[in-house]
Amino acid sequence: MNLDDVLTTGREPHGSSDDSSLIDFSANTNPRVPEGIERVYREAFDRIRGYPTEPPTKFRDLAADYVDCDPEQVIPTPGGLAAVRRVIDLLINAGDSVLVPSPSFAEYAREVRLQGGHAELVSETDILTANPEAHAVAIVCNPNNPTGTLHDRQAILSFADRCRETDTTLLIDEAFLGFTHQQSVAGTEGVVVARALTKLFGLPGLRSGFTVATGRLREALTTARRPWNLSAPALAAAEFCLQQADFIDHTRERVRRERTRMADRLTERYRLHDSGAPYLLIDVGERDVNVVVARAREKGIAIRDATTFRGLDSHVRVAVRLQAENNRLIEVLESVWSESYRRRVAVVTAGYAVALDRLGRWHQSRWRGVQYDGPSRMGSNRHSQLR
Ligand SMILES: Cc1ncc(COP(=O)(O)O)c(C=O)c1O
Repeated sequence: MNLDDVLTTGREPHGSSDDSSLIDFSANTNPRVPEGIERVYREAFDRIRGYPTEPPTKFRDLAADYVDCDPEQVIPTPGGLAAVRRVIDLLINAGDSVLVPSPSFAEYAREVRLQGGHAELVSETDILTANPEAHAVAIVCNPNNPTGTLHDRQAILSFADRCRETDTTLLIDEAFLGFTHQQSVAGTEGVVVARALTKLFGLPGLRSGFTVATGRLREALTTARRPWNLSAPALAAAEFCLQQADFIDHTRERVRRERTRMADRLTERYRLHDSGAPYLLIDVGERDVNVVVARAREKGIAIRDATTFRGLDSHVRVAVRLQAENNRLIEVLESVWSESYRRRVAVVTAGYAVALDRLGRWHQSRWRGVQYDGPSRMGSNRHSQLR
């Protein structure tokens, strides 16, 4: 990283609300955490008086089991974004180009700029058919945030083949893949996978994730990893989470069921992007996003203003939460929609009233022998005498 590149790169806005009186649909994290996680975390407190175990072998074994790869290929990181940072930092030099999906997680382009690289934006739906040749790295977010696009695994593997041919490293961010039944591409040659435990286990404050890489890149990432880069409680909690098969199954099933139910109801009014993720991207059409977000907030719901994502100017994003909470969200979004609808009806009705009034006055004026000139710019009706 170079001082000038960093000083000319801004920061990016994110979701999540710290107002505990609201139901937070603006962050895409699981509203449930694995049962027993608090006990595990508290017990690990005793271990913070010593350094965490080096290397973190148990974490690596469990993570490898979880995504089905070789434990040697796993490099622990404090969260998913740290995994992305590590790869971009290692591979991008000033002037290098990176293929970046759009709209997508804004941190990708920021990470590239921080290294002095150039982010070449490609529609997130077309990224797997883009030509990787001129790029040092190609990034794919699967499923994509904020659209929810779940890319076909075979299409990712075909793109990985093309990336290998052009010597482009393919970085796949699977931060939300654990919510789906799709198998990870971790361990595929020439591909680096970034995983976060943050989202699926509902633990954004834990800061735990990992990278999976092969060949020279694996070697480099393993060597470059700082010792003790995850705290003892973060390692203990992560190791516990990675063994919660039932929790993972139940979460996947709930997200699939609730997302379908929410989408069915919300499409009666709004346009929705097809989603394979634990969130839905909603187009609010002619309604003002600021008003929709503010009205929802007044009704106790935090939703994400998605207009901060490139190319989205009439969108909000909502997480898929628990059934009762989702019912409340549907109710609120329906009322927000019909409130604006009612306002439109009121405007149309008022328009008719004015037109009828004008017609009436015109008839009246003809009856009285005066010509009606229509309303003045000031809004008052004006009648002028017929010569
Ligand atoms: C696609 C994607 N990847 C990674 C992250 C960051 O994950 P973590 O909090 O584990 O660093 C986010 C956070 O919103 C995200 O949306």
